[in-house]
Amino acid sequence: MSKSVIIIGCGIAGPVLAMLLKHKGFDPVIYERHTEIQSAGLILGVSPQTLKVLNILGLAEGAIALGHQVQQLVTRSQLTQEILGSRDVSPISQKLGWPMVLVVKRTLYCQYLYDSAVGRGIPVYFGKKVVGVDESGDRVSAVFEDGTSAEGDLLVGCDGLHSAVRNALFGKEDPRYMGLVQIGGFSPTPESLRNDSKPTGFQIYGDGAHFIGMPVSDTEMVWATTLPSPNEAKEDWQRRSPEETRDMINGLPVSRWENGVEEVIRGTTFITRYGLYDRPVLDTWHKGRSVLVGDAAHPTSPHMGQGANQALEDCYHLVRLLCKSPNLHTSDRLTSSDIETALTQYEHLRIDIVKKTVALAAEEGNRRVISGRKACEERDEMLRNGGGSNPERLKLQMELIQGPFVGESEI
Ligand SMILES: Cc1cc2nc3c(=O)[nH]c(=O)nc-3n(C[C@H](O)[C@H](O)[C@H](O)COP(=O)(O)OP(=O)(O)OC[C@H]3O[C@@H](n4cnc5c(N)ncnc54)[C@H](O)[C@@H]3O)c2cc1C
Ligand SMILES: *[C@@H]1O[C@H](CO)[C@@H](O)[C@H](O)[C@H]1NC(C)=O
Repeated sequence: MSKSVIIIGCGIAGPVLAMLLKHKGFDPVIYERHTEIQSAGLILGVSPQTLKVLNILGLAEGAIALGHQVQQLVTRSQLTQEILGSRDVSPISQKLGWPMVLVVKRTLYCQYLYDSAVGRGIPVYFGKKVVGVDESGDRVSAVFEDGTSAEGDLLVGCDGLHSAVRNALFGKEDPRYMGLVQIGGFSPTPESLRNDSKPTGFQIYGDGAHFIGMPVSDTEMVWATTLPSPNEAKEDWQRRSPEETRDMINGLPVSRWENGVEEVIRGTTFITRYGLYDRPVLDTWHKGRSVLVGDAAHPTSPHMGQGANQALEDCYHLVRLLCKSPNLHTSDRLTSSDIETALTQYEHLRIDIVKKTVALAAEEGNRRVISGRKACEERDEMLRNGGGSNPERLKLQMELIQGPFVGESEI
């Protein structure tokens, strides 16, 4: 039996999907456009959703060891300096059995997932940039820029925001610039912001700018400020040079903010600047024997901390539904009807919730850059009263945190 799955992209979703498939007896192969795993980006907030999925593979404890558990989140107003809200997340972590907010450096996390996939015998080919997808008969193939191709029963696009698989299946369309940039980096944690008994993350809403800081260890933190910007910025998340760093810091509205912010920014050891983008969530994510997962299907602005977490929920459901295929054990190959059934169910299950999540993230982005004293006062008032949490929003947040299953995993 050989049920081959071609996976495009070795970011977050690619290696996890491959490991879940391999775990269930499929033959996944990963193709990545870069020549090695990229060391770019800041942090990912890994939530119980992700840890539940990694736990199926025995990888949750290792991920927890890579990160830092945040136990308390404090929200402040820059206008009045008052604390608008403070939330202890330990009770919910205890209830769910997993850390609620685990801050992990993206580079460490990507390397960990990649090493784990390779360690389980999954082939990963680098320097393979997909430029097209072809389907004929009951086979599908990825066509690479170097003129080669790879054939399989199923092809999964885990190729992120600029997904070439998505473009090949549904037509080329550019990502949507949200009119916002983030500048962020890593800094030593100032004494005033340390809380060893309750590692604390904090955010400050100001006039036309927002600042967030989270501990990544007892002595280091990650920070980011969100700003409106009419000009589009790259989203390669690459480190900037020392000269660029100095210029960026000097021009920042938050560079003179109180409560330790100025100190954090002055101390930065790494800085990056990236534009925020999403793409409309499509009403179908598959065509024939090809399907999209993660950012390829539903890129989001980062304010809900959901990009990487939703990607793993996709992986879980896709594999679970493929495993339910009626002909799985009687046929050597994945049949067209099994694929059609699994992929249709997968997108039905996922589209609605990711649409809502992407919309909430965009809404939060706008809230962070509201300008004018009156508008900011109104926003602060809403945050003081629990963040404008309408029941629907709270319900969605609970649903997200629970992850793809309650109790035992089905795979
Ligand atoms: C460099 C980088 C840094 C990031 N940093 C952060 C961060 O600090 N904080 C945050 O919240 N989010 C960050 N994000 C976004 C976050 O990683 C995603 O929301 C989340 O990882 C979704 O995972 P994914 O696997 O769907 O996509 P990604 O993690 O984006 O992975 C996609 C992979 O596909 C590869 N690929 C793309 N096109 C092709 C092609 N044509 N052929 C073959 N391979 C291809 C890419 O090189 C990449 O390895 C970052 C994304 C990137 C790409
Ligand atoms: C740490 O957080 C706890 C709980 O909010 C608080 O009581 C304590 O004062 C904080 N300690 C420091 C050093 O800020």
